[in-house]
Amino acid sequence: MTTATAASTGAPIRLAVIVGSTREGRFGPKVANWFTGRAALREDMSVDVVDLADTPLPASLTHRPGPEDAKALEAVTPRLDAADAFAVVTPEYNHSYPAPLKNAIDWHHSQWQAKPVGFVSYGGISGGLRAVEHLRPVFAEVHAVTVRDTVSFHGAWDAFGPDGRPTDPRGPDTAATAMLDQLAWWAEALRTARAARPYGA
Ligand SMILES: Cc1cc2nc3c(=O)[nH]c(=O)nc-3n(C[C@H](O)[C@H](O)[C@H](O)COP(=O)(O)O)c2cc1C
Repeated sequence: MTTATAASTGAPIRLAVIVGSTREGRFGPKVANWFTGRAALREDMSVDVVDLADTPLPASLTHRPGPEDAKALEAVTPRLDAADAFAVVTPEYNHSYPAPLKNAIDWHHSQWQAKPVGFVSYGGISGGLRAVEHLRPVFAEVHAVTVRDTVSFHGAWDAFGPDGRPTDPRGPDTAATAMLDQLAWWAEALRTARAARPYGA
């Protein structure tokens, strides 16, 4: 049992795991499935996986949302609204993060506000950390708080076995626990604060 689990007093933290890569043949689900499994072990969290490949959103802000756009957003927006915390699973593309992930961020605003965001990244030699560092100021702009610790996989395709688990799970498991503990702390603190006083009021 983690410190956060032991200290938790309220209802479970609703964690939305956002899968940011959408391309065909993507590696992302392997990372996301493992991480979701770690989060699901916790008694202080319930997990909803928002896979942006399953819930494509209209091209960002180029037009007024029509009925089709509203339908697409309906598959994502209420779930972000309901979340107390977010874990963003992101690869690194050309030293940054995928366009569909930016699109999903841009379509929303209040859904992010005064909520914590953690990152699970993967890629080549940098483990997706450049993508993470690009995401931090973006989430600050929408009034989210990003937690310090990340989970990252460099050379990700060699880091997982055929069973979908990390070949050496000690480092990733420890990193996931640290990040999830920080998310839980912030999520509970901010949920209490939002209930006491609407953010920005
Ligand atoms: C267009 C593109 C650009 C990439 N750029 C980088 C990069 O800058 N740094 C890096 O470490 N890996 C880079 N990669 C490798 C990806 O991080 C790696 O292929 C990863 O598996 C992509 O995630 P996905 O399979 O879930 O889409 C790039 C891959 C693609 C497709």
